[in-house]
Amino acid sequence: MIGIFDSGVGGMTVAHAIEQLLPGHSLIYYGDIARTPYGPKSPATIINYSIRNTEFLLKRGAELIVIACNSASSVATETLRKKFQVPIIEVISPAAHRAAVTSKSGRVGIIGTRATVKSGIYPKTILTEQPRAKIFQEACPLLVPLVEEGWLNRRETKMILRRYLHPLKEKQIDTLVLGCTHYPLLKDLIQPRMGKQVKLIDSSIETAHYVKKFLTRTPDMVTREKQTSHNYYVSDSTETARKVAKRIFSRPMELICV
Ligand code: DGL
Repeated sequence: MIGIFDSGVGGMTVAHAIEQLLPGHSLIYYGDIARTPYGPKSPATIINYSIRNTEFLLKRGAELIVIACNSASSVATETLRKKFQVPIIEVISPAAHRAAVTSKSGRVGIIGTRATVKSGIYPKTILTEQPRAKIFQEACPLLVPLVEEGWLNRRETKMILRRYLHPLKEKQIDTLVLGCTHYPLLKDLIQPRMGKQVKLIDSSIETAHYVKKFLTRTPDMVTREKQTSHNYYVSDSTETARKVAKRIFSRPMELICV
């Protein structure tokens, strides 16, 4: 069974992509809604929460962990890999790799939470593949609450996006990494703002493809059950979370509160 965790419901963009690409696999998801958002928190706190989330999934039979949160992937991957025996897949490397091979000019933009941007993990990872790349980052802390409020097509959201994206536009990037679980929901606003010459990299889709490749290479890593199950656990159930989950899956989601 594939275990997936996130600070809340945003990681469901990753879970949804995995459901679509690997329909024959069972998955268990844990969204730490009670402690969301992780983005503004310190690395030590995010690491502690990530350990608890991983333990929760392992206790319920996860054989592989996907950290479906950019903030947690940025600061907690190393600790989780040292502490737990199962494979730990994070969302940064697949997106960074895609950005490195996509960018022709080598001018790449990254948008993410404060935790992700501050960690410097995206530039570091892209530069190992494309040492001459020029990476420009922008923390966008207001975007997560806007998405959670469902303000996906509001004038205010467009104004804030303009403010965040302007410096990246000025740098003439040709590739932009959506380095946060929530940002794929803003693609329709981000793409026209950046222009069609800028390629958007969606870390959730890249990660789902990576999980698929990983399981093709090591098929025995997770047990294939006769009856697949998809269970979505959360540490708190709020109306906002249910709305975001429904928007991501285009169906009402049962969120099991534990
Ligand atoms: N899941 C987080 C991320 O991808 C966004 C929400 C949060 O800050 O917890 O960075």
